[in-house]
Amino acid sequence: MPATAPPPTRHAALLAWVEEIRALCTPDAVHWCDGSQEEYDRICGEMVAAGTFVRLNPEKRPNSYLCRSDPRDVARVEHRTFVASRLREDAGPTNNWMDPRELKQVLHGLARGCMRGRTMYVVPFSMGPIGSPISHLGVQVTDSPYVAVSMRIMTRMGARALAALGDDGEFIPCFHSVGSPLAPGATDVAWPCNPDNTWIAHFPEERLIWSYGSGYGGNALLGKKCFALRIASVLARDEGWLAEHMLIVGLESPAGEKTYIAAAFPSACGKTNLAMLIPPAGFEGWKVWTVGDDIAWIKPGADGRLWAINPEAGFFGVAPGTNTKTNPNAMATLAANCIFTNVALTDDGDVWWEGMTAEKPAHLIDWRGRDWTPDSREPAAHPNSRFTAPAAQCPTIDPAWEDPQGVPIGAFLFGGRQSRDMPLVYQAFNWGHGVYLAATMGSEATAAAVGQAAIRRDPMAMLPFCGYNMADYFAHWLYLRRHVSDPPRIFRVNWFRKDADGNYLWPGFGENMRVLKWIVDRVQGHGKGVESPLGWMPRYEDLVWDGLDFSRERFTELMAVSREAHSADACSHEELFDRFLDRLPKEFIYERQLLKARVWRSQEVWEYWKENS
Ligand code: GTP
Ligand code: SPV
Ligand code: MN
Repeated sequence: MPATAPPPTRHAALLAWVEEIRALCTPDAVHWCDGSQEEYDRICGEMVAAGTFVRLNPEKRPNSYLCRSDPRDVARVEHRTFVASRLREDAGPTNNWMDPRELKQVLHGLARGCMRGRTMYVVPFSMGPIGSPISHLGVQVTDSPYVAVSMRIMTRMGARALAALGDDGEFIPCFHSVGSPLAPGATDVAWPCNPDNTWIAHFPEERLIWSYGSGYGGNALLGKKCFALRIASVLARDEGWLAEHMLIVGLESPAGEKTYIAAAFPSACGKTNLAMLIPPAGFEGWKVWTVGDDIAWIKPGADGRLWAINPEAGFFGVAPGTNTKTNPNAMATLAANCIFTNVALTDDGDVWWEGMTAEKPAHLIDWRGRDWTPDSREPAAHPNSRFTAPAAQCPTIDPAWEDPQGVPIGAFLFGGRQSRDMPLVYQAFNWGHGVYLAATMGSEATAAAVGQAAIRRDPMAMLPFCGYNMADYFAHWLYLRRHVSDPPRIFRVNWFRKDADGNYLWPGFGENMRVLKWIVDRVQGHGKGVESPLGWMPRYEDLVWDGLDFSRERFTELMAVSREAHSADACSHEELFDRFLDRLPKEFIYERQLLKARVWRSQEVWEYWKENS
């Protein structure tokens, strides 16, 4: 355990806050992280000794580790996530709310002595490149060494962030404890946590985060969902910008023209894959550049466009399904310097997960540390097992990914998982219509019952991440248009439509490039399409089909929506809207009426579309 050294800062407010937490939580030691490789290696080494980390075979996976969490602590816990604004209405109907004074009382009670027997790491970090006008600083205190080392991959962490903070800079205080104090002489477990008493708390007016009881992902790496989305969405509302659950990707044509796209898909719906797309046959000369895979901070620029940065420095990506065919760039990114959580361990000291190789290994140690063979009934890796990887290792990382002013966004894409009644792609008529499409986006709950798939409305893929009333968030999106003379064009996409037998109609992954190319053409003003009651749509001949055998009939099946289905969908938007009462922007009422009228006036949406093709 490191000796408690003097704090490497003269920032009075930071020193006072750290001292207050130390006195409350009574850790055995306090360690200010400098973010160095030596520090990272030392903390990882301590976790290997403690049984928390398994060092992977350095020949196969240099400087990389496997970590197995407590099986009760494997994902974000939305039902234990709170937005504690002073007024309940300011959290809105889609967030759990508690009175901030009451919640603080609960948390302070839990925090008393909660770090006993542990080291408290003080982790200064920057979300966004250090020094960028779009970036913000935070300081996380945590009693989890796993979190401390993960923050070094996911953010710009340590001495350089502390230097940027100076003696009186602004920072977001982020409290984190696994909520598992150690009595003197007690032996620790590999993954301490407190699953029966987990709290992920946000105080938006104070711009403060308290997380207690979980060590996993978005619950514990507080720069990510808690700061970069929930608290940042509040900053963005107040300051006139956007904090979004979006990937950022750059598409470079053979002529060298670069178009950046930001896309919002709900969790586990393909952001990492699209961010690292490799163009298929038929797209020779095209290059795709990765800027970010999960979060975008987007600000109006002096030129009337929106400019975006990726506030993160690493990828915390879903492991299962990732392989050299679906996402070769991700596989290359994972070659070294990574932390793998809840995947399986191979007999030669490497990692494995479902879908990684066509053939399953004959023997593995599964994510719970048990022997596994292909006959085992349970998967070897947890479905939400993840890799933590430095973004700089991605072969397609964009040369501009750390540009302090960001990259200019040409298009916003919104898409969920919809197995029926949602076309592959269409473009909104204008900003207001596009914001409406984004706000009414639906996605299927993956555990949907047989037959009718249950759709959960997930506006802008931000349902679990908006730190204030979502009706105000919709109004903010509409309002922003006034400060952006050349806004991104808005598109709905859906890679997940299925045929009557339940097979995907669209090959997806790299083939999504065909849709992106049409979107780029539209943004650059030379893309053809036809107006349908839903929006602008490509005809079969408007997409490039070289290198893919995909018939006109199948394309029709992929794009068509019946009048009845779309009308029913439009009617069901009311269910979402009614929850917001009078705070819903009036524009949405009119957009919905217009949509219903357009859909009803056409004989069949698809008939109309075909006649005009
Ligand atoms: P979070 O990190 O949770 O925010 O998720 P994400 O949106 O980055 O999800 P990710 O890219 O990791 O995708 C997760 C799942 O979607 C994996 O099972 C992929 O195989 C699947 N997926 C991604 N792209 C496609 C696609 O184009 N078509 C199909 N059918 N599946 C896809
Ligand atoms: C998500 O759930 O959207 C994630 C994973 O990106 S986590 O960081 O755990 O929230
Ligand atoms: Mn995410």
